[in-house]
Amino acid sequence: MIPSLRIPEVGLSFLLRGYTTISWHCDRLETDAFYGRLLGRRTLFLRGLDAARLVYQPGAFPRAGALPLSAVALLQDLGSVQQLEGHAHDRRKALFLRIVSPGHAGLLANAFEAEFEASLPRWRSAGRVALHRELVEVLTRAVLRWAGAGTEAAHAGELARELDSMVAHAGSFGPPNWHARLLRRRTEAWARNTIRAARSGKAGAEPGDDPLQALALFTEADGSLLEEGTAAVELLNVLRPVVATSRFLAFAALALEQNPAWARNLAAEDPADLRCFAQEVRRTTPFFPAAGGLAAREFQWDGETVAPGTRVMVDLYGTNLDPRLWKAPRAFDPDRFRGGACASALVPQGTGDPLASHRCPGEDTALALVERATVLFLRHRLRLPAQDLTVDLRRIPALPRSGIVASFG
Ligand code: HEM
Repeated sequence: MIPSLRIPEVGLSFLLRGYTTISWHCDRLETDAFYGRLLGRRTLFLRGLDAARLVYQPGAFPRAGALPLSAVALLQDLGSVQQLEGHAHDRRKALFLRIVSPGHAGLLANAFEAEFEASLPRWRSAGRVALHRELVEVLTRAVLRWAGAGTEAAHAGELARELDSMVAHAGSFGPPNWHARLLRRRTEAWARNTIRAARSGKAGAEPGDDPLQALALFTEADGSLLEEGTAAVELLNVLRPVVATSRFLAFAALALEQNPAWARNLAAEDPADLRCFAQEVRRTTPFFPAAGGLAAREFQWDGETVAPGTRVMVDLYGTNLDPRLWKAPRAFDPDRFRGGACASALVPQGTGDPLASHRCPGEDTALALVERATVLFLRHRLRLPAQDLTVDLRRIPALPRSGIVASFG
């Protein structure tokens, strides 16, 4: 029988325990499934790879209405691909998968490298920099250039702060969340203007190769362009998550510092080693704690019938550290990914069929950026002076406490 929590609301538990919340309750109840409430709504919490595969079955757990508006409004937003199901979802998702195909991801990594190199003289003369903040800005300039969305220097800094604040406050409530939503309005106004400019004089043109053109001229099944506001939301759904990979990059810098043998090994820039390292960074970084939706129909779990409409959330962080899937899960060991082994058990960006499910389309992009950043950190002799590098897992999304102060040789 699936147990229920004695004190059902887990909102407070999330504040107290952050990323470890679902696993903490699972361990105490000796189960991988329990009922509780999240902000008042009855929710079935699950952990493990089978549960992740369940929640990413095409059409089985629509995301619309599943998450608090405070998070949706800062992340994917209403009208986005994440809120769609069936044919409409798959059509729009195919666009995302084209935009961030491995070839395009390589071009984005090149743009990142160019912006990183351009920042180095300033970083060197400053002596020490707040690495995560700098990476947010470098990624913003890179993604704007790569997307074909302009790179005016003054505006890029503002946009960088706005895009990062959407990610930083998606898990918060009250004034910090409201402030980030207010900032987002400004970003959306910019995104609408950018879409309008990309469309002007191009009615009936074939979508070009750059991501902005592809998005601006993408047509629905009936041949109409996306409504301007929706196209703007989807533009942000490319820009914001690319900037959010700054968090994987920060954790890559931390892993290099804490695993000097791997840092020496990676200096040879062997692509297979870099891939193993990037996968291990994705597995161990606390980023998306959980994902889920509302059951489209009745289903069976642990021999019980779960009613349609039930909200189901799967523990992504806990599943990436599940000792039944990963040997010594808390050890940082990129070798576990040798030869592509275990990659199919990774769930930091979801799992399943990326076209037909809500699995993230940006995994190749995230990998390409972590790999390129790792090469650049080593080539330019990244150093982390003494500082508080502990990670507070109560904070969602997490970062090392110091924000990572760094210098380059
Ligand atoms: C740090 C890197 C990233 C992380 C941790 C991440 C995480 C995730 C997760 C967990 C989901 C699934 C949400 C759900 O189940 O409802 C998702 C979906 C999505 N991600 Fe990412 N993502 C990252 C990078 C990217 C990039 C680079 C893009 C660029 C296009 C992107 C675009 C999207 C979109 C559009 C969806 C919605 C897909 C759908 O509903 O079909 N993400 N992401």
